[in-house]
Amino acid sequence: MVNMATEDSVTFDPDLPDVYGDAQPKQLLRTIIEEHEQLQTLANRHVISSGQFSRDVMLQLFRLAAKFECNPERFNSPLAGKLLISAFYEPSTRTRLSFESAWHRLGGDIMSIADRSTTGIAKGESYADVAEMFNNYGDCVVLRDSDPEAVYQMARSLRIPIINAGNGIMEHPTQALADVYTILKWRPELLTDDAKPIRIGVVGVPKRMRTVRSLLTLLSQFSDIIEELVVISDRPAKTAFADGQLEALEEAGLNVRLSNELDGELPELDVVYINAIAWVKNAREVMGNAFRLDDQSPLKEGAIILHPLARGPELDVSLDTTPHNWYFAQARGAVFVRKALLTCMTQRTERVMDVV
Ligand code: CP
Repeated sequence: MVNMATEDSVTFDPDLPDVYGDAQPKQLLRTIIEEHEQLQTLANRHVISSGQFSRDVMLQLFRLAAKFECNPERFNSPLAGKLLISAFYEPSTRTRLSFESAWHRLGGDIMSIADRSTTGIAKGESYADVAEMFNNYGDCVVLRDSDPEAVYQMARSLRIPIINAGNGIMEHPTQALADVYTILKWRPELLTDDAKPIRIGVVGVPKRMRTVRSLLTLLSQFSDIIEELVVISDRPAKTAFADGQLEALEEAGLNVRLSNELDGELPELDVVYINAIAWVKNAREVMGNAFRLDDQSPLKEGAIILHPLARGPELDVSLDTTPHNWYFAQARGAVFVRKALLTCMTQRTERVMDVV
């Protein structure tokens, strides 16, 4: 049976893409003092791991992202004449489309490869040779590949920057940048001297989930604003963390605690980050699916929920209409973070710095 379109089914409100508007990015913009020379350090470099980002560089990137978010119409095609090679060999809704949206909206053009079997890799061509060809065809590469080594092997032959958009279970650095940007937009005052540190819960498996691994690495640079980071997992520490991972976070100053229950932790958490899947080779691996959040969960008043998405049953849609929902703002903000990063990596920073 074909459904008949009713007035309700064909109307929408164009003014509600982001319930938080531009007040939050404007506040963040005011809080971070501009030091644009930090952004020059991103030129002529690949982005492979979240461990590459210093706190100072991150803050300047977030400042530029907030500038884009406050004034999306003001920037006059800084990437005009530049060509992006967008290579996604795993499913993606957000990362691929937000990178491509960011690049297009900055005035650049795109070549897209959605399946590695349509390239010479299917004939046995090496990553190095494919990368050598990419040098001739584009100005930047964004790669998602379930083979964790592919991005490293391509980087060795590239003379244009490559961005790791997810390499197997290892890293997803630009997702983590979007996550931290969201936290700082939610509470820009965390960056001021009299800030009260927050408690963050991360529901997931740092050893198996690339988003969690990259996020924890970035958060380790903000240990001064994090009173405690609680990793909530159904696994013991020795299988939840990779060798040396927990020790590295602690050495960086993070106060990390492992917990195996969610509801008992929720009333004390200011930020709850949840994820339940890892993409391993060509399949979904579901982890910790006993942990679920819905609008009846004992969340602290004012707490926010983040999720890298795509969601499963761990994040109930009943939360979508509550003030705890910052996961949609997180996905939206990723476009502005990626705009900022792409502008810097392609040496077009000077085209946006003077725009206020
Ligand atoms: N967050 C994220 O990586 O989403 P996609 O898999 O849709 O890109």
